[in-house]
Amino acid sequence: MLIHRPRRLRKNAIIRELTAETRLSTDMFIYPYFVVDGKDITHPIAPMPGINHFSVDKLIKDVEKGLKLGVNKVLLFGVGEEKTEDGSSSGNEGTIVARAVRELKKQFGDNLFVITDVCVCAYTTHGHCGVLHDDYIDNDSSLDILARMALAHARAGADMVAPSDMMDGRVGAIRTLLDKEEFENTSIMSYAIKFASAYYGPFRTAADSAPQHGDRKSYQMDYRNKREAMREALLDEEEGADILMVKPALAYLDVISNLRQQTKLPVACYNVSGEYSMVKIAAQHGLIDEQKIVMENMHAFARAGADIIITYHTRDILEQGWM
Ligand code: PBG
Ligand code: ZN
Repeated sequence: MLIHRPRRLRKNAIIRELTAETRLSTDMFIYPYFVVDGKDITHPIAPMPGINHFSVDKLIKDVEKGLKLGVNKVLLFGVGEEKTEDGSSSGNEGTIVARAVRELKKQFGDNLFVITDVCVCAYTTHGHCGVLHDDYIDNDSSLDILARMALAHARAGADMVAPSDMMDGRVGAIRTLLDKEEFENTSIMSYAIKFASAYYGPFRTAADSAPQHGDRKSYQMDYRNKREAMREALLDEEEGADILMVKPALAYLDVISNLRQQTKLPVACYNVSGEYSMVKIAAQHGLIDEQKIVMENMHAFARAGADIIITYHTRDILEQGWM
């Protein structure tokens, strides 16, 4: 006689649903957008099928559609912004991204939660995520510029800022300036554990933010390191981060899982451009079932411990009713 028959709990769909350990919810998803200058622009981003560059007017139309499906949290990237040597143009009131935030908040108010990426790589002539001094990205002089960028976004009405630069101490610098300017309720989701990854390839084409020379290894993390990853995340927590993010996601499920055990803060993961494009393009070639692969991946993030998933698949998941 067999006492243990785990298959009993898999007998039919109803009992499988009853005993499912991981469940996704619409509320977990954050949808990224790339915003460009101009009017009436919906320009497909070739390496990321299904994702577009939008001018602000078209962005508003698309967000309006998304809201009806429950996409009420967006992460904005400005593309084609003014570039300077030190990236300080990122702190201007008139950046594309600041204008987009103002328009979105004017249009949708508290029905839409607006998050902005805070990093200068789309604003520096050299494409690095901080100030360049003698071929090295200088940490401390970058902090002030990043904090001012975050402040410009907060002033425009951003609900949350998401620093993605990986300078030491930037969460603290941003928190201090925001508080001083009375934006104590603007939250910070830090890209706490961001690895130097080849999975950002399609994004760098989309955002025109690839470094002109060298790589990002002196500031983004070495993917061999998990203890250091925890150290990075816990430092951001000490400095005042409200949410800790791991990026990329698919190849880093162990890191998500480890972080979930180390912090009481919400844990987010970023299912990045390269991960997205691999799925979309394989599906276009009929090699995989897109819906099944996407949902398997999303459940993997949740099972690993992610409370929040940032993914370009958000619209497909909700529009096509994949949940
Ligand atoms: C900017 C930034 C990057 C991504 C998010 N913010 C690119 C990079 O660090 O090179 C990647 C997002 C993606 O690949 O989807 N620092
Ligand atoms: Zn950057």
